[in-house]
Amino acid sequence: MRVPLLDLGRQYAGIKPEIDAAVTRVVESQHFVLGPAVARFEEELAAYCGVGFAVGVSSGTDALIASLMAVGIGPGDEVITTPFTFFATAGAIARLGAKPVFVDIDPADFNIDASFIDRAITPRTKAIIPVHLFGQLCDIEPIVELTAKRGIPVIEDAAQAIGASGGARRAGTSGVAGCLSFFPSKNLGAFGDAGAVLTNDDGFFRKLKILRTHGAEPKYFHGVIGGNFRLDAIQAAVLSVKLGRLEAWTDARRRNAQAYRRLLAGVRGVVLPKEKPGFRHIYNQFVIRSARRDELMKHLKDAGVGTEVYYPLPLHMQECFAYLGYAPGSMPEAEKAAREVLALPIYPELTTEEIEYVAAEIKVWADDVARD
Ligand SMILES: Cc1ncc(COP(=O)(O)O)c(C=O)c1O
Repeated sequence: MRVPLLDLGRQYAGIKPEIDAAVTRVVESQHFVLGPAVARFEEELAAYCGVGFAVGVSSGTDALIASLMAVGIGPGDEVITTPFTFFATAGAIARLGAKPVFVDIDPADFNIDASFIDRAITPRTKAIIPVHLFGQLCDIEPIVELTAKRGIPVIEDAAQAIGASGGARRAGTSGVAGCLSFFPSKNLGAFGDAGAVLTNDDGFFRKLKILRTHGAEPKYFHGVIGGNFRLDAIQAAVLSVKLGRLEAWTDARRRNAQAYRRLLAGVRGVVLPKEKPGFRHIYNQFVIRSARRDELMKHLKDAGVGTEVYYPLPLHMQECFAYLGYAPGSMPEAEKAAREVLALPIYPELTTEEIEYVAAEIKVWADDVARD
């Protein structure tokens, strides 16, 4: 059997008539950038996420960059974040001339360890970007408390976490900004690059909208320098259709995660992802750990199962960040996670047989290892 890590074709097959009609409407309108389709999606998205405003932008990366620009981040500033995330989180900070300051992760959920943040704060700390990795909220409560006291803005990287929650907190709604990505492999995926910024702050919302179109206000008059961070109407139309299905898809991902948990309970040599009590993990990725990860990955590849390592090299060890001066061993939990993590197929359209097959192959491998 072949089980790919992700099969977007199955999702499209289930919604083709609606998607095609929505795209055709945009094509017939000839209104391709921003406009009514984007405005409509922004309203729907804000309602879904439980936030005052949503601003559609060109990607999750641009959501981070525009948000950092809106809080005034620039050269000489420090921004605290996690070293165990997709590159864009720290890349956005560095591209504005600011310094990423890394804080190690909590191995329980792969997210920034909030208890280490206090000692990383200096007078130059101008923002913090916690990431809700793989679809589970980080420990946002203490981060909000700590930063509120010191007036440090929180920009949540919720690129992988649309619809996730923890207690009363919903992804992307606790800081001044919540950044979403609609990269095709995300739970809500566009037909290309797209993203959004969530906010409850009226002033921040107005700034972002100006920054999105090169800082123009009014048109052709530039009080500030922004960028082309605009969202395409075709992407917004696709996203509006898909947003209507997102809850059902998330429930299916959660059911698939439960099935893996049931099937893999007690399998030696494999650690399953923890779902924190009271948290709604949306499983953009279902990430297991194994000390013999590379062997397991090879076994699954040979069995026709697609897997991926998110992420093989923590950001403090990336060549482009050598100038920051972090030594290997300085972020031990992130480094260990990078050696052990493996993402399994988790998309909503997976069949029971496929999940059983993946789990059975993991057991075959675990039994072989136990016999060694
Ligand atoms: C945690 C995280 N941050 C930022 C991004 C950047 O989003 P995009 O690829 O839409 O630019 C992504 C997605 O790829 C991500 O997973």
